[in-house]
Amino acid sequence: MATGVINFKKVNKSFDTDEGVNHVLKDIDLSIPKGKIFGVIGYSGAGKSTLIRCINGLEKPTDGTVTFNDQIVNQLDHKSLLNLRGKISMIFQQFNLMPGRTIAENISLPIKYQGFSKEEVSSKVRKLLDLVGLPDKYSAYPSSLSGGQKQRIAIARALINDPEVLLCDEATSALDPETTDSILTLLKQLNKDYGITIIIVTHEMHVIESICDDIAVLDKGSIVEQGNVYAVFSDPKEELTKKFINTTSNLKISQELVDTINLRPGQKLIRLSYRDGETVTPLISDISRQFNVNANIIIGDIKLIQKQLLGGLIIVLDGDKAAVDSAEQYLQQQKDVEVEVINHAR
Ligand SMILES: Nc1ncnc2c1ncn2[C@@H]1O[C@H](COP(=O)(O)OP(=O)(O)O)[C@@H](O)[C@H]1O
Ligand SMILES: [Mg+2]
Repeated sequence: MATGVINFKKVNKSFDTDEGVNHVLKDIDLSIPKGKIFGVIGYSGAGKSTLIRCINGLEKPTDGTVTFNDQIVNQLDHKSLLNLRGKISMIFQQFNLMPGRTIAENISLPIKYQGFSKEEVSSKVRKLLDLVGLPDKYSAYPSSLSGGQKQRIAIARALINDPEVLLCDEATSALDPETTDSILTLLKQLNKDYGITIIIVTHEMHVIESICDDIAVLDKGSIVEQGNVYAVFSDPKEELTKKFINTTSNLKISQELVDTINLRPGQKLIRLSYRDGETVTPLISDISRQFNVNANIIIGDIKLIQKQLLGGLIIVLDGDKAAVDSAEQYLQQQKDVEVEVINHAR
């Protein structure tokens, strides 16, 4: 199984606290494929930071193993760990730039003692500043930058060792939506152009659906669901996964809205969730024709996940009562569509 660039095998992590033992990671098995963008989503306190910090040895599992290529991370000595952190770099929610140093000094900090000449360092820094789109910030100080610019500098610093893996701990959680998207676009570009494996931990569904290939859902220290993002999103098994999906879906219609839609006798308010956008449009005209019912679309929501359509509709089925029931049954029989009657007239 363990074929990823990073593998967790039966990883447990506990902290001893004044209140007793806090068991934070529970039997984590993960295989993170090389060259992919892997997302871990969970609520605050789920153990995301602890999990990602086990990858570069900032935390040590209580038991189990974390491997990077064929190295067992949790058995490395101090010197090998420092070496490893050149290949696995990290960015943070709060950017962690040094306020008293210039941008160039911040970016070059990780290679300060590696014996490069001033010119070599300066040329590396300038290339990275170009890459992150801030060529004129060489001599600026962090305090003069916006949050998004600071994160770009942190990304440049993370790249100076040509890492194989980039760890992102809530890297966009302090940013506004537009800036978040520009940073996500940059990460995606780094992944595509340089093949860097990216691991993102976040509580934001938007981050996962925008750029991740694979996802693991972390609930109180356990991974409850994982797989390809499209596969998980189109057929979520766990309540928690559904909750996260609902945070970015228009199809999660409030009771208030349901109550404002006055259904006449025979009408049913139905939610259709589907995996394949191509199949649902003919379905709506199918039922209209076959059963002589009307399907009025109240809400439509569709998004592109890994270049595939995922979404749904909320419709009011309207017509003769028996016809509406038959149409609903017909919908229930479709394999790529999940049908849920939200409300019906009494
Ligand atoms: N160094 C530590 N000592 C004791 N408890 C810790 C330590 N680091 C994290 N924890 C605890 O581990 C749990 C998970 O924390 P964390 O990994 O930061 O979660 P997340 O990043 O998902 O919010 C929390 O209950 C937190 O209090
Ligand atoms: Mg955290």
